Amino acid sequence: MLRTGFVGWRGMVGSVLMQRMQDDHLFGKIEPVFFTTSQVGQPAPEVGVEAPALKNAFDLDELKKLDVIVTCQGGDYTSEVYTPLREAGWQGYWIDAASSLRMADDSTIVLDPVNRALIDRQLDAGTRTFAGGNCTVSLMLMGLGGLFEADLVEWMTSMTYQAASGAGAQNMRELLSQMSAIGNAARAELDDPASAILDIDRKVIDAMRDPNFPIEQFGAPLGGSLLPWIDKKLDNGQSKEEWKGGAESNKILGLAPNTVPVDGICVRVGSMRSHAQAFTIKLKRDVPMDEIEDRIARHNEWVSVVANDKAATLERLTPAAVTGTLDVPVGRLRKMAMGNEYLSAFSVGDQLLWGAAEPLKRMLALLIE
Ligand code: HSE
Repeated sequence: MLRTGFVGWRGMVGSVLMQRMQDDHLFGKIEPVFFTTSQVGQPAPEVGVEAPALKNAFDLDELKKLDVIVTCQGGDYTSEVYTPLREAGWQGYWIDAASSLRMADDSTIVLDPVNRALIDRQLDAGTRTFAGGNCTVSLMLMGLGGLFEADLVEWMTSMTYQAASGAGAQNMRELLSQMSAIGNAARAELDDPASAILDIDRKVIDAMRDPNFPIEQFGAPLGGSLLPWIDKKLDNGQSKEEWKGGAESNKILGLAPNTVPVDGICVRVGSMRSHAQAFTIKLKRDVPMDEIEDRIARHNEWVSVVANDKAATLERLTPAAVTGTLDVPVGRLRKMAMGNEYLSAFSVGDQLLWGAAEPLKRMLALLIE
């Protein structure tokens, strides 16, 4: 059995990973060892099998004893530990939720329903470093994998509607605090059916602009608003989140950089944990709609096509419908006014499942097989 270390298992992505591991009864197939940055010696979590007391996540000697390390601890941890561990001769499998190693030449971004063949080739070639992709990228490829598999995409834009969870647990809390502050500001008028909507609106915007409105995490009001910038600015005017769309998509697909240009504007919205994306896809040729829908729907067992009508869209193509599931619905499929080679699409997916924990869990499962 693979001696498998878990770091960052208590955080948000780590907790979802632990749950998915238990759902799939994977702990019984490995020898788990849990690491901590602050509680060495405390009992390991209950996962249905025995595990030793928590070990120090910075103890290279303990880490060196592992066959596999799965980390959801974040990029700073990876930066501090990964290189010294490799330099110390450790040749185990490193599976990482953070972005630090994604674009490294000797790492593979894992999304096996899309790039299983690439993962297998890399394993055969001796790759030992695997990273989960950016959440919007993984969710885009889970949704549109059938079009890429058939080499139908010349370029595409992805305009995102990203959930608070992508920014972290504290951000989810802050979104709710903001919503609550807004609701409280307008409470009396809301309870009075005769009150004027413009009075409510004024109270709401006054609350959002109040110096006491909670914006410590996001830096600006998100509830009742949106934030059209995610992550750092790059020299070319893209945000880093926008850059990842093109860079990681091509790498996951095993293509040279920018083979299929992917670009867009990444926007944070007041969704809790499901990201959504609107796509403009330039097809390489005029493909009939029934073929497009068929290719998308058949690509993997989690994607589904939602009929392009209002009732189906509101029922199935929203964060409220998708959160907590592995479903990746794709809808709003139609040819656009620009011509028959221009396809619009919209997809939604749980940012913590396919967007984060699930590809890592499945990579570990692949190693166990
Ligand atoms: N960077 C993403 C976001 C989440 O901010 O929503 C992690 O992939």
